[in-house]
This record gives sequence, C-alpha cells and structure tokens, in this order.
Amino acid sequence: MRQQSTRIGLIGYGQIGQVVHKMIDADADNGMEVVFVHDQMAAAVQNLPTDLCLANLSDFESRQPDLVVEMAHPDVTRQWGQTILEKTNYMFISVTALADRAVETTIEETTRRAGTRAFVPHGGVVGMDALLENRDVWESVDVVMKKPPHNVDCAAAGLDPDDIKEETVLYDGPTRGICPLFPRNVNTHAAIAYAGIGFDRTHSLLLVSPEWNEAIVEIHAQGPGLDLKVARSEGITGVTGASTPVSIYNTVQMIGATGPGIHLR
Ligand SMILES: NC(=O)c1ccc[n+]([C@@H]2O[C@H](COP(=O)([O-])OP(=O)(O)OC[C@H]3O[C@@H](n4cnc5c(N)ncnc54)[C@H](O)[C@@H]3O)[C@@H](O)[C@H]2O)c1
Repeated sequence: MRQQSTRIGLIGYGQIGQVVHKMIDADADNGMEVVFVHDQMAAAVQNLPTDLCLANLSDFESRQPDLVVEMAHPDVTRQWGQTILEKTNYMFISVTALADRAVETTIEETTRRAGTRAFVPHGGVVGMDALLENRDVWESVDVVMKKPPHNVDCAAAGLDPDDIKEETVLYDGPTRGICPLFPRNVNTHAAIAYAGIGFDRTHSLLLVSPEWNEAIVEIHAQGPGLDLKVARSEGITGVTGASTPVSIYNTVQMIGATGPGIHLR
C-alpha cells in the first residue's frame, strides 16, 4: 500500500531551509518532494534550478503543495499564515509569531474553517512532549536562555550587541513580552509557552555575556508530584543552535513522510 508523496513548499532558504531541503532530497524513499522554494532575497536561491524557485509567494497554490514550511521570520506567518491555511497545511518554525493573540486566533479559526492543519515543531525545545502531556499539572514553567550577545538579534529591542561588555540580563518576565523584543531568538521560549502553561504564565530570562561562546537553554517545570529539569548547551551560528536544522527536518518528515520503515513518534 504505497501512499502518494507529500508535496512540500519551503519559505526561507537560510541555514535551516537549506539543510531541510538537502535532507528531503537525500532520501528518495521518504515520500516527500520539494515543489517550491521561496526567499525574499533572490541571491539566497540563485543556485537552485529556476523551476523550483517561487519568486512571488502569492503563486504558491500553482505548485499544489500539501504542506508549506516557514523557515524565515515570524512576519511570514503574520502576512501569509491565513492565506496559506485557507488552501493547505502550514508548519511555522518562527514560533514567536504565536505570542500575538490575533495571529494565534486567526490561525486557529482558519484551520477550522478550511479544514487544514497548522504545525509547530519542537525545534530547539528538548522535552516538549513532556511539557505538553503534563500541561494541566504544571504550576510554574521557567526558561533560562544564555547566549553570546552577537548571536542575539537585538534590533527590535533597540540594543547594540557591541555595547554589551559583561553578563547582562536582557529580559526577565512573562514569555509574552520577550517575543516581540527578540523575535528571531526566542522561538524556544515561545514553543515552551505554547506547549505548557501559555505565554502569560511562563517565565522567561534572557542573559548574554561576551565571555560565552555557546547557547544554553534550561527549562524547569514544577507541579504537584512532578518536577522536570532539562538543560542543553550547544554551538550556535547566527540565531540558530547547532541541533535545530536536523530537528526541523525530523518534524517535517514526521508530518510529511509516507515511506516505509519503522517510524518513531
Ligand atoms: N523553532 C525553533 O526552535 C527555531 C530555532 C532557530 C531558529 N528559528 C527561526 O527560524 C528562522 C530561520 O532561521 P535560520 O537560522 O535559517 O535564519 P537565516 O537568517 O539563516 O535564514 C533565513 C532566511 O529567510 C529569509 N527571509 C527572512 N524574512 C523573509 C520573508 N519575510 N519572506 C521570505 N524570506 C524571508 C532570509 O532572506 C534568509 O535567507 C528564523 O526566524 C529563526 O528565528 C526557529
């Protein structure tokens, strides 16, 4: 019983988008096919076959995708989330978009109306399954993120990373507030909040120091009879931790792969 292959459209062809594309193409058996790549920078896709590039995202339907994957910026979900979900399934990795209540409501309502599905990957979050499965148990969820200042896009917060000379707290408060200040850096916080007790009850701390050269995320969730602590340190390039691109591919294949084999869930 061979199922049809899943037609996948990619938005954003940077660090993560390129790895996901390569990994989809590398396994002819996975039952997935990339039907377009869109990036706002023409230079980002200049080495791809012309017929794979989609210059104008409003033409996405012409490629008949079964799944569109955003790997670009939270603005894409704000601008295109509803339009895409009116027609097909949509996975967005720039999860900070969900901190905007209007965006969350629009996505939910559109999926109900159109019968499509929206997906949020666990991405940089180790243990998202445990956070989700026990979301009714947790009384508190704390996220501590430590990064070198030059790996934090401080533009929206109006800060210059060059000015940071010592360990500095960039944010300490509810997760809802950190997302618009550092929209490209705190997708992990947003996914933890969405999986667990929400953007207003999850507590976020963002620390930077020029002494550090790795990204560290610590998660601590507590509830009656249950205590969850997870910590991961890893290399970081740009705004993305070393383990994220493969993690994103893994979620794409969980949703889209139709090939044979034993599938871990
Ligand atoms: N969910 C997670 O755990 C997680 C982890 C790391 C990064 N991210 C997010 O994933 C996204 C991609 O990360 P990356 O490291 O590949 O970034 P990158 O900067 O290497 O690549 C992003 C690409 O998207 C393109 N782009 C940006 N805005 C666009 C738009 N509005 N329309 C079309 N193309 C656009 C850029 O030109 C660039 O080529 C970022 O938003 C980042 O914040 C999520």
